[in-house]
Amino acid sequence: MDVEQLENTFLPKESRAKSGRDNIFAWYARYQQAKALGEPAINGTVGSLLENDGSLAVNSVVSETLRAQEDVDISSYAPLAGLPEFIELAPELAIGPRLAGLHELGLHTSAVATPGGTGALYLSARTALAVGDTILLRSLHWSPYDRLAQECGLKVAHWPIIPEEVTNHPKVDLPALEEELESIASDNPRVLAWLNDPAHNPTGLSLDQAGRELVLDAFIGCARAHPEKGVTLLLDTAYAVYAEEPYGWSETICSKFAWVEWPENLLICWAFSASKSHTIYGMRCGAIVFLHPSEDYVNRVAEVCTVTGRGTWSLAPRLPQATLLAIHRDEDKAAAWAAERDRLLEMLHKRRRAFNEAVLSSGMPLLPSDDGYFAYLPCDLAQEVAERAAEDFLYVIPMSGGVRVGLCSIPDDEVERAAEVLINAWRAVTG
Ligand SMILES: Cc1ncc(COP(=O)(O)O)c(C=O)c1O
Repeated sequence: MDVEQLENTFLPKESRAKSGRDNIFAWYARYQQAKALGEPAINGTVGSLLENDGSLAVNSVVSETLRAQEDVDISSYAPLAGLPEFIELAPELAIGPRLAGLHELGLHTSAVATPGGTGALYLSARTALAVGDTILLRSLHWSPYDRLAQECGLKVAHWPIIPEEVTNHPKVDLPALEEELESIASDNPRVLAWLNDPAHNPTGLSLDQAGRELVLDAFIGCARAHPEKGVTLLLDTAYAVYAEEPYGWSETICSKFAWVEWPENLLICWAFSASKSHTIYGMRCGAIVFLHPSEDYVNRVAEVCTVTGRGTWSLAPRLPQATLLAIHRDEDKAAAWAAERDRLLEMLHKRRRAFNEAVLSSGMPLLPSDDGYFAYLPCDLAQEVAERAAEDFLYVIPMSGGVRVGLCSIPDDEVERAAEVLINAWRAVTG
């Protein structure tokens, strides 16, 4: 039998539908080949923060603390929901200094440790929706969102990443958001939306206070209009510590519910990820964090997620949880971690400033790129632009509908040349 026949014999159609050489790794391999041949290649491909010499940026406080952990934290299982103190810490890291203010407003939090932010996304999809339900995403999103939705048997609806026409906010297409929410709430038993903000992947876009308030109001409005349906907004804050306003959502939520009553059928969650914030991508450390006025409910939904996690990956690794506790429960270590984080943040700011400046006068329609790891050029001929850029040794990621530029991996002194190459490629391809 050939592979296709074997596949047909062994695999159901859901499995046969899966294929894929990862586009990002394929372009990274091309960059590496060019470099090995001595070409002046620029790496705009990967989704990890690299130092200017091309090595992986590692927050040394985290790696030192990891290595100093006890055998029991290296070898033992964690409790199914996570180490009890880690479950206390996760809301602090996800929500930030406004956590106490939110508790004072009568809101309650709970958390479950997950293997990375991806685990939190998965748990929200698995527990808040059922097979056949619809999840709401922005039109442009981290591509594994689609995979996760498919694994959970969900349909996907979109609202635009930025308004297609002039609306009352440059980054929020409120009418489109309201329309999608209304349509999902009307046709489905529940609503779940994932919102990757601030420092969105793949654009770098961050909402400001006014933008966040418009979005929050839309979810509150949807919950009020459909009081019998659960409306869940999950904030994917994977890159938040590398944003100007890392805890902007907490500010917005805190000031909103200081004077507006929280609709009981509204749940806000965070997908906390330590991958970027603590530069431990491979350790798989994250948490899903819940915020709601009912203490019993946040505890109950955490229990449900713990059971889902048990039946999927068993439990999240203990070592990174213990490491984050050792850092954040020690003032000196926490300050040292923050100082190193600030160095990495400044490195990203510097690259982004140079890139945005170089692009500004070119007419190239880069999407707003404020924070985080990436910038994004919308373009129907993304493959052609990336190929053309590669001729001048800039390697970026062509996606359907645009080109992702990993500012996180381009050294400071190559950023201007990267921008020039991209502008030339875009001009050559689009005329
Ligand atoms: C937008 C976004 N969300 C979530 C994640 C999850 O990361 P992890 O599962 O490593 O915590 C990533 C990682 O690249 C991401 O880009």
